[in-house]
Amino acid sequence: MAEIPFRPNVLKMSPYSPGKPIDEVKRELGLTKVIKLASNENPLGPSPKAVAAVKAAADQIHLYPDGSAFSLRDALANHYRLPIEQIVVGNGSDEIIHLLGQILLGSSDDEIIVGHPSFVRYDAAAWLADCKLVRVPLTADMRIDLAAIAQTVTPNTKLIFIANPNNPTGTIVTTSELDNLLASIPSTVVVVVDEAYFEFADGTPGFPNSLDYVRKYPNVVGMRTFSKTYGLAGIRVGYAFVSEPISDAIDRAREPFNVNSLAQVAAIAALSDADHLKQTVKLNRSGLDRMHQAFLDLGATPFTSYANFIMADLGRPARPVFQALLERGVITRSGDVLGLPNCLRVSVGTDEEVTIFIDELTKILA
Ligand SMILES: Cc1ncc(COP(=O)(O)O)c(C=O)c1O
Repeated sequence: MAEIPFRPNVLKMSPYSPGKPIDEVKRELGLTKVIKLASNENPLGPSPKAVAAVKAAADQIHLYPDGSAFSLRDALANHYRLPIEQIVVGNGSDEIIHLLGQILLGSSDDEIIVGHPSFVRYDAAAWLADCKLVRVPLTADMRIDLAAIAQTVTPNTKLIFIANPNNPTGTIVTTSELDNLLASIPSTVVVVVDEAYFEFADGTPGFPNSLDYVRKYPNVVGMRTFSKTYGLAGIRVGYAFVSEPISDAIDRAREPFNVNSLAQVAAIAALSDADHLKQTVKLNRSGLDRMHQAFLDLGATPFTSYANFIMADLGRPARPVFQALLERGVITRSGDVLGLPNCLRVSVGTDEEVTIFIDELTKILA
């Protein structure tokens, strides 16, 4: 049979490898109790207001959604005091990453710059466009190196992705570092500040807010999501603050109904639930502190995290530790798949889940 002529760059890509699902681990290892601290989800679950909104809208799913997601964009515009024309929404921020690649990368000479390691879906945008992916190593303290990124920009650079906080390290860049980068690169390079974990870091001295930059620089995109603090990972809604030309280009390239009707109502309801957000951030803070201390007590080197996960260098390959935790019913992420083979990344769970993780890790490492 003749071979189907797929684009060669597509065949070079690997499918995304998500955290292992709980049911799969139970089945494979014959366990009854398994906790998942691998995908940076909200351990409190969704806002009850979002659940109620989804139930109330369920009998309307025979109708197409509002393709412009007007009510959701309007709610976001009011919440963030930005004109509605400067808000775009997507099927998770994953889709917005994909769309930015689609509207900006067209030739094999085009370059996209990312910190390394950082969120792997940026790489996929480059592979899919078959353009040049430039990976700039993190600083010694595991932060995205904006000074090195500035030096790496060439006339072919189209797109820079900065995850702030960074996934998988949880570390942040500062306002002055971002100011310096933006002052030293051409205003034609689109700089995406990916704030998937913004609400966990908000209030940290020196932590930039992309909104301030989007108001000043038409080439800056601030990207956020309902998947983390808002607990809506399963329904898929991300959004971005953009200048009007970027909004217009995304609007041309996106699918007509890219955010489904249940996602739209869930996101509007979640945005109004300030209590759920507050509790989420509070629970996360105490879990992070306990996990950071536990890693130190066990002789590991945790990186200072401002997100809802923590990464630590175990000083030895993390894969066997990941496996031992899995066999004890705790799903984490081994750093070898993220470019840091001695590191383990663990999402913050409920207080009880954090206790289970610390107890099991102690049995393995102590
Ligand atoms: C830095 C970063 N950006 C974007 C995403 C994608 O989030 P979503 O597509 O669920 O909005 C994630 C998910 O883990 C992430 O860590």
